[in-house]
Amino acid sequence: MSRYFAIVPAAGSGSRMGAERPKQYLELLGRPLLWHTLNTLCHAPAIEQVFVVISPEDQWWETFSWESLESLQVLRVGGETRAQSVSNALAAVCGQVGQEDWVLVHDAARPCLSQLQVADLIHTLQDDEVGGLLAVPVADTLKRGDAQGRVAQTISREGLWQAQTPQMFRYGLLDKALQACPGVTDEAGAIEALGLSPRLVAADMTNFKVTYPRDLALAAQILQARGEL
Ligand code: CTP
Ligand code: MG
Repeated sequence: MSRYFAIVPAAGSGSRMGAERPKQYLELLGRPLLWHTLNTLCHAPAIEQVFVVISPEDQWWETFSWESLESLQVLRVGGETRAQSVSNALAAVCGQVGQEDWVLVHDAARPCLSQLQVADLIHTLQDDEVGGLLAVPVADTLKRGDAQGRVAQTISREGLWQAQTPQMFRYGLLDKALQACPGVTDEAGAIEALGLSPRLVAADMTNFKVTYPRDLALAAQILQARGEL
């Protein structure tokens, strides 16, 4: 039987947030943002172990308490890009994870991931040949802008999805894909480059990525409304 593991890349600098520290360590309801992300994955019943990937130069991790997160292992192997951080993590855990085991890669910057979304993803993909990702069908009309901030083109939203994480693939396939295609912005992109078609699993916008300063208040509202904390 395949087992389930999670890898959480948390080695970014959060440049678009423009804060005094990387966004994964900003305060969200009295905890670092990253704690909320890890808390959900560490309490997902199917997931055996969660690996968090931080930068070798990270000076923030030690300043917080992570005690309540029992299935957590820290990997100080973050790289130059997100894909590099994930690749380094895959290499670091090769003795612990089997080729056919499932790996869920989830952005540290998505603290509002819910247990239901994790369970949905795992349930939908457990017998899939390729694997897949949470994603949201595009609801708005899309415009391409020009350099003057005017509409250059309207783009049909038909068939378009916004990719989220977790992205769930088997260890062996994911490792091979990222080695062959290190320039991708998500795991699915590397799998697609091998000629395979990851499955889209419908999620919703509550699992958004905290990117800009205004996003923090929205994340707090979503977590509070859920009332688990
Ligand atoms: N990430 C990582 N290693 C990197 C770059 C990013 O582990 N070299 C992680 C981030 O910590 C984040 C996730 O990948 O959890 C998604 O990246 P993004 O939202 O772009 O975060 P940052 O790169 O930190 O932010 P920005 O692009 O605004 O600088
Ligand atoms: Mg980035």
